[in-house]
Amino acid sequence: MSDHSLKAARDFEQKYLPFSYAEQPKFHVTGGIGWLNDPNGFAPYKGEYHLFFQYYPYDVRWGPMHWGHVKTKDFIKWERLPAALAPDMEYDSGGCFSGSAVEMPDGRHLLMYTGVRNVRGENGRIESFQTQCVAVGDGIDYEKYEGNPVIGADMLPEGGSCKDFRDPKIWREGDKYFSVIVNEGPDKSGNVLLYESQDGYQWKFVSILAECANRYGKMWECPDFFPLDGRHVLLVSPIEMSAQGLEFHPGNATVCMMGKFDRKTNRLMREVVHAIDYGLDFYAPQTLQAEDGRRIMIAWMQNWETSACRLHDLGFMGQMTVPRELSIKNGRLYQLPVRELERYRVSKVEYENILVSGELSLSGINGRYLDMEVSIRPVDVGSIYKWFRIYVAKDGEHYTLIRFRPDVGTVKVDRTHSGFPHDIVNIREIPVNAVNGVIKFRVVMDRYSLELFVNDGEQAASFVIYTPIEAGAISFASDGNLIADIVKYELDTEIDR
Ligand code: FRU
Repeated sequence: MSDHSLKAARDFEQKYLPFSYAEQPKFHVTGGIGWLNDPNGFAPYKGEYHLFFQYYPYDVRWGPMHWGHVKTKDFIKWERLPAALAPDMEYDSGGCFSGSAVEMPDGRHLLMYTGVRNVRGENGRIESFQTQCVAVGDGIDYEKYEGNPVIGADMLPEGGSCKDFRDPKIWREGDKYFSVIVNEGPDKSGNVLLYESQDGYQWKFVSILAECANRYGKMWECPDFFPLDGRHVLLVSPIEMSAQGLEFHPGNATVCMMGKFDRKTNRLMREVVHAIDYGLDFYAPQTLQAEDGRRIMIAWMQNWETSACRLHDLGFMGQMTVPRELSIKNGRLYQLPVRELERYRVSKVEYENILVSGELSLSGINGRYLDMEVSIRPVDVGSIYKWFRIYVAKDGEHYTLIRFRPDVGTVKVDRTHSGFPHDIVNIREIPVNAVNGVIKFRVVMDRYSLELFVNDGEQAASFVIYTPIEAGAISFASDGNLIADIVKYELDTEIDR
């Protein structure tokens, strides 16, 4: 397929999208067909929330990047819209890479994205030139600005390289637009650059907001920057990260930096740095501020390293996380699924004060589209159990395991038996707080995924699973004696809420 015009993409969607729905998750956004990666342009527009995404409709592999498009009123039910951008100009012929969106004061929708141009250098190697571009539209159709690119190599700070200069996150404050963009600095690691504009078209460089200085991975990707609960928060996705204990894992990671925004120097004075999500599949998060003030985050529920690993006959590749409400508590970024998810809870099954000693299944506790809370405590504080396990997506052959060990303060998730026909990293160990063996889990499942929230959102961990849908049993186990309260709901997004 070589016609990468928007018309070709929209015709392709018209023809093939209707056939692709049987195996979709119920409330996690996918591309419908083809490939999806980063969330883009997640922002309110005319009373609804729009979400664009990195998209290649023609294959389940990454290809020249388009922008796919959906919108929602409640973050759970999504309406699919036609593809919004295709790589059809010289400056974006290598792809319309990640970016963001904002509503303009006159009601138009401004998209800001990275245009990539690939050129073969004198040494025969392909070199990539990345510049920032804008397109303006009405929520469905967008026109690229004739003056693109709006931010190019001439607006980089000294030593910056336009080979790695991408992923603008735009917002409006007062009567100005601002944008944070990642760039490879002279030390070959990531910087976040801050730009401002009066009209969205003419931009000027303001400052280096934050520097990696080779401390958290190498190049950074997909920045987001916003105030929250009295602090400023910077989210970035570092590549070539090295593991640091259980806090950061190697490869493509995600990091939250919190601190004070010094408005004189326009720099973030960071005070706290921690991982955003401790699972296997989470990257490139992006946030918006909802009409009611909530800061809501969505991310690509995938990891580059395992993104070639999928089921052969699945007609789409890539899904988003459930949108999550953010807050800061005890100096950490907390996250929980948007409260709107609770509207779609049906068929409540509840058990209180259940003794878990050995392995136990409970009538009505099963399923693959579910929202389940499990709170546990020891029978006697003097003799704490050694481990507690929850098995989900289980049958004779499959299971996904969540295991808690109070003595070391870790939760392990193991998806070795969760349907992947690939030999990839399947286990993640997560540091948690659990004083005296008291801990709370929330498990959200939507066919191909498991999202775990520990202690009301103090830690979150996201996992793709490909376990056959028939494997829906759940059981609980402990080596000692503990007491559990369990509430489980099915999630039904067909109902009208
Ligand atoms: C992050 C990323 C971005 C880039 C996009 C390309 O996942 O590498 O930096 O804009 O994906 O699809």
